[in-house]
Amino acid sequence: MSGSRLLGTGSALPRQVVTNAQLAERVDTSDEWIVTRTGIRQRHIAGEGETTATLATAAARAALADAGVDAASIGLIVLATATPDNTFPATATKVQAALGCNGGIAFDVAAVCSGFLYALATADSLLRTGMAKRALVIGAETFSRILDWEDRTTCVLFGDGAGAVVLEAPSAEHPDRNAPGIIASKLHADGAQHDLLYVDGGPSSTQTVGHVRMRGSEVFRHAVVNLSDVLMEVLAETGFSASDIDWVVPHQANARILDATARKLGIAPEKVIVTVDRHANTSAASVPLALDVARKDGRIKSGDLVMLEAMGGGFTWGASLIRM
Ligand code: UT7
Repeated sequence: MSGSRLLGTGSALPRQVVTNAQLAERVDTSDEWIVTRTGIRQRHIAGEGETTATLATAAARAALADAGVDAASIGLIVLATATPDNTFPATATKVQAALGCNGGIAFDVAAVCSGFLYALATADSLLRTGMAKRALVIGAETFSRILDWEDRTTCVLFGDGAGAVVLEAPSAEHPDRNAPGIIASKLHADGAQHDLLYVDGGPSSTQTVGHVRMRGSEVFRHAVVNLSDVLMEVLAETGFSASDIDWVVPHQANARILDATARKLGIAPEKVIVTVDRHANTSAASVPLALDVARKDGRIKSGDLVMLEAMGGGFTWGASLIRM
């Protein structure tokens, strides 16, 4: 049976843009180092009144408008974030209240940068079983609030934002692999790599929020291997080949990871959607943000075969193949 159909996308970014040059006034770094090592030129940083929930709600509203559906028809909200407004309740419930579609299912997913892939696969599974008819799947983050602004090895890498998609349950059996919908998703985690990318605080351990800590070059190495492996796994399962893919929408951590992964798979660089230059790494928001950018600028069209992929803290990683 084919998977849930994607009816619309939306995104939201904080008003404030911070350039590399502005960061170089705060920490010992340079525009040249950041651009050559990461491809990042600027990032959006949440200001007063902007939180993960407000960004998520704005992205959700944009996705609903794009899909042309009413919030009242949403029976499921799955929100991926590592930076919730509160330890509990789930930020998804704040979005639900803001949209006025109370009564359905709403919960958060914590898989950091792979969060959107985890959320999408979870929502798709719930829709396939009939738990709801329509879902909002959101990736939303305010990583600026868990960065150590004295640590140049991490604070230059991240930004804030949100992206959302509206999904609809599959209506009939569709053995046709060209039917629109999520064709396959694969998720993985390797908890043994926990210490390479984590936050050094939490309610139960330190009673503080903590700051992001990362051994960047080791994460980089794992990212290229894990991402190319999971892409191959999805292709092998579905019978498609790399040349069938119209667009890859990757997690936007580092332009060099995007290049290396595409090269390893033999995918032309012009088929890879890149937003890391403008948004930096927005963790769970980066894939739906990039997807929305590429749909709205006309690159990704109906009927295109699109591969989403991400890897992050845990480690967690995953990929989804979608016919738009
Ligand atoms: O989203 C989840 C997944 N996350 C990722 O995928 C991130 C993966 N990692 C990366 O993107 C890269 O490893 C980084 C961009 C984080 C770092 O790039 P790198 O080429 O791996 O650099 P490095 O960590 O090996 O550091 C090289 C040098 C070091 O100096 P020494 O020890 O060689 O003297 C760092 O101290 O660059 C120095 N450095 C900086 N210099 C200027 C580190 N950060 C900065 C900085 N400005 N902001």
